[in-house]
Amino acid sequence: MKRPSAVTLSAAKGLAGGEILRFAQDDKGPTATVAERLAAYMRPGSLTLVALPPLSLYVHLPWCLQKCPYCDFNSHAVRGGLDALPERRYVDALIADLEAALPFVWGRRVHTIFLGGGTPSLFSPDEIGRLIAAIRARLPLEPGCEITLEANPGTFECERFRAFRAAGVNRLSIGVQSFDDARLTLLGRVHDAAQARAAIAEAKDAFETFNIDLMYALPGQTLAGCAADLEAALAFEPPHLSVYQLTIEPNTYFAKFPPALPDDDLASSMLDLVAERTGAAGLERYEVSAYARSGHRARHNLNYWEFGDYLGIGAGAHGKLSFAHRIVRQVRLRDPAAWLAGAEAGSAVASEHEVARADLPFEFMLNALRLREGFALARFAERTGLPITAIARPLEEAERRGLVERDLQHVRPTARGFDFLNDLLELFLPAPSP
Ligand SMILES: C[S@@+](CC[C@H](N)C(=O)[O-])C[C@H]1O[C@@H](n2cnc3c(N)ncnc32)[C@H](O)[C@@H]1O
Ligand code: SF4
Repeated sequence: MKRPSAVTLSAAKGLAGGEILRFAQDDKGPTATVAERLAAYMRPGSLTLVALPPLSLYVHLPWCLQKCPYCDFNSHAVRGGLDALPERRYVDALIADLEAALPFVWGRRVHTIFLGGGTPSLFSPDEIGRLIAAIRARLPLEPGCEITLEANPGTFECERFRAFRAAGVNRLSIGVQSFDDARLTLLGRVHDAAQARAAIAEAKDAFETFNIDLMYALPGQTLAGCAADLEAALAFEPPHLSVYQLTIEPNTYFAKFPPALPDDDLASSMLDLVAERTGAAGLERYEVSAYARSGHRARHNLNYWEFGDYLGIGAGAHGKLSFAHRIVRQVRLRDPAAWLAGAEAGSAVASEHEVARADLPFEFMLNALRLREGFALARFAERTGLPITAIARPLEEAERRGLVERDLQHVRPTARGFDFLNDLLELFLPAPSP
């Protein structure tokens, strides 16, 4: 097997305080050991984080039965059928990836775990159970740690739901998308509406909490069609619903062969309908695309939106880790074969870099302003290590334009700010360098 390229330390030596550390995979450069990378990240710097935020763990499982034409996630059709799924090898490599990352999260507790994909429900409950046990053996989990698994509603997966629960998963997120067979076919889905209904019924029986993913503004969808999808989902009284507008992502089949989609006015009427029907059904819209009953908000996603930390393991996984004086972003090797080889050899990180001080306000807002309740000003200081004065000017401007409301402690997007989120976020972009 080819030795994977090691993480190299391209700029750490001789850095002055405040400069940005950046590491990348490169066969030719000098290799940086874990100790060197850690030492670089622990050095004094221009930020001061008084406390580290809650830590989540994201685990990426990259295979699907087939690739959907709209999907730009790091997901790959499993070649040679399910029997060819290298699940044992992949879980072993995940454990190796986690072990290599442990020095960067030493002594920290894990608040939530998300097994995402791809289609994690293609993995057997035994392998998922082995993975969860391996995580527990290496990292302390908070009592009641939320452990979510993404599942597709095929019959094959559905039969395994109870076994996933027994393996330690305590929340299921089911990718239904629509209950209209014609829409599902156009979306290239491998399941139909009857299978979606059966999967939700099974999830409701087996799990105390679960999520349904729906998409709207689908090819050929009418307002009545969108309403019917919503009613079908709400009939199950889901504790949590995520509703995304279908977007055409670059480098997908739909980008190459665009389907006819509802126009902006119709899409906006659909969103109004979603807000109205979910509200009437007792689900609160607490984030741009997320609706929940009391006590059922997605704790893992909330940690992202509250600018918490997350370690990402598995092919192409992203991570964000805080240290006393800096915040670091990591990306794992994207190609599953390259990631497998990397993790097995002890180094699956493709690149990592320190977030520039000037980028932190925008990065924080990109997450926090997605929340209907906004954020506490003290949380901004705690999570970014910056003084609140760093956002005084754009906040004033946002308030002047009626995009946020605030008091001395809290900032909240107004209804207008929530509807025109991009205009609001733009105010926090770093000033262009001269
Ligand atoms: C990581 S995906 C995978 C979940 C699962 N494999 C599935 O497809 O059912 C999570 C969710 O993102 C949403 N999604 C994926 N691609 C999208 C797109 N192009 N536009 C809008 N939502 C999208 C879908 O609702 C999907 O359920
Ligand atoms: S099943 Fe989900 S992750 Fe897989 S290709 Fe389709 S949308 Fe993407």
